[in-house]
Amino acid sequence: MSPMPTKGTVTIRNARVVLPGGIQQVDVLVKAGIISAIGRDLPGQSEVIDADGLVLMPGIIDPQVHFRDPGAPQKEDLHSGSCAAAAGGVTSFLDMPNNNPPVIDRIRLDVKKEDAAKKCVVNYGFFIGATPDNLEELNSAENVCGIKIFMGSSTGNLLVSKDSDLERIFSTGTRLIAVHAEDESLLQENSEMLSTVREVEAHPRIRDEAVALRASEKAVALSLKYQRRLHILHLTTEEEVRMLQRLPRGHKISTEVCTQHLTLSAPGCYRELGTLAQMNPPLRTSRHRDSLWKALKDGVIDCIATDHAPHTLEEKKRPYGEAPSGMPGVETSLPLMLDRANRGECSLLEISKWMSEAPARLYEMFNKGRIEVGYDADLVLVDMEQTKTITNGQLHTRVNWSPFHGMQLKGWPVRTLVHGKTVFLDGKVDTKVRGREIRFA
Ligand code: DOR
Repeated sequence: MSPMPTKGTVTIRNARVVLPGGIQQVDVLVKAGIISAIGRDLPGQSEVIDADGLVLMPGIIDPQVHFRDPGAPQKEDLHSGSCAAAAGGVTSFLDMPNNNPPVIDRIRLDVKKEDAAKKCVVNYGFFIGATPDNLEELNSAENVCGIKIFMGSSTGNLLVSKDSDLERIFSTGTRLIAVHAEDESLLQENSEMLSTVREVEAHPRIRDEAVALRASEKAVALSLKYQRRLHILHLTTEEEVRMLQRLPRGHKISTEVCTQHLTLSAPGCYRELGTLAQMNPPLRTSRHRDSLWKALKDGVIDCIATDHAPHTLEEKKRPYGEAPSGMPGVETSLPLMLDRANRGECSLLEISKWMSEAPARLYEMFNKGRIEVGYDADLVLVDMEQTKTITNGQLHTRVNWSPFHGMQLKGWPVRTLVHGKTVFLDGKVDTKVRGREIRFA
C-alpha cells in the first residue's frame, strides 16, 4: 500500500535543479514551505510534481519595482503587481516608496505592509523614501530593505539633491542606502538647454551620461567616506562601470542593471517605441548596453532588476514632455534572460546568481535565493523549450503592455511556487495564495 500524502508536503521530481554548486537531476522535498531535503529517490509521502523536462530554479527576486499602491491602482496595485510577478517566476519583490502619498514614515510603511499582507500573492519587502528632513524615520523604521534616495527627480515628488542633506543621511545610521543616481542640477541645466526639442530623442540628452556619472560618483564618495552600505540602482553607463572598476578594496557598494538597459538601445528604441521607451535613467546607445552586459558577466554589476514602473498606454502615448517615464517589466525579465541562455550568452547558473542569490545576499534576506535545505521553498519551474511571443493585452500587469511587445522568446516560467504553494500554473495565477513579508537582517 502506498503511504498517504502528508499534508503540506510537496516533492518535485525529475527536474534539472539549479543548486548553488551546479545543475543536478535531483528530487526536492518541501515541508511546511521550507526545502527539507534534496537528493535522489526521496520518499514520496507527499504531493508529487513530475517536472520531467523542466528546470527548477530558485524563485526570482526583483529588487526594484514600483507597484503604485497607494496612489494609482488603475496602473498597478500590490495585488496586480504581485500577480504579474508570479507569472514571471518572481517570488519576491522589493517595492519603491514613490507612491502617493510617498512612503516616508513608519505609519505609511505599516499601512503598506498591512495592505500587502492582504493583497500579495508573492513575498514582499519595502524601501522607505528619504526626504531632506525625515532622518529619524529612515533609521527607526522596522524591517525595511533599505532607504531610497532619489538624487534626481523622477516619478513622484521624492527628491534629496542638496549635498548637505545627502551628507547627513549618509553619515547617520547604518542601514543600506539605495540611490537613483541622476544629478538634479545638471539635469535641470540640460532640460533648460533642450527645452525647445519636443522629440523623445531629447530624453537621453537631458539625462545624459554626465548626469548619471556625477550622481553615482557623489554617492560612491559618501559611501567611502562614511563606510556606508550603498546600492546604486539601475546603472546605465559605461562611464559608471569604469568608475566602479576602480573602487578600493573593502568598499560596501553594490549595483544592479535593468533588463531594459541590457536589451533595448538608442536610437532604435526611440524610433520604434517613441515615448514608450522613456524611462529614468534613460535607455542609451549600444556602447552602454554592451558595456553593462560585460560588467554583469564580469561581476562588476551584481544583480538584475526591472524597475517595473507601469503607466497606462494612454499616458505613455502622450507627446514627449507630457508622457511619464517608466515601463513595466516584472513579468518579462526571466524569459528575457532564459532566451539569452538559450542563445548561449549566459548560463542558468549565472541567471540564478544575478536574479536570486545576489539580491537575497545584498539585501540580507533570511533564507532566500537558493535551493538549499532550510531555505524557503520559493521556486520556479522553467521550460527551456517553450517559445512564446510577448503580447500586449496578454499580460498580468494592470497596464497590460510591454516595451517588448512582439518579441519572441525561447525559455519561459511554467510554474511558480511561493513557500511551497503553487501560485502560477498553466498561464494562470492562483489569486488565493498569499506571500509573506521578507525578513531582513
Ligand atoms: O522611469 C522611471 N519611472 N524611473 C524611476 O526611477 C521611477 C519610475 C516610476 O516610478 O515611474
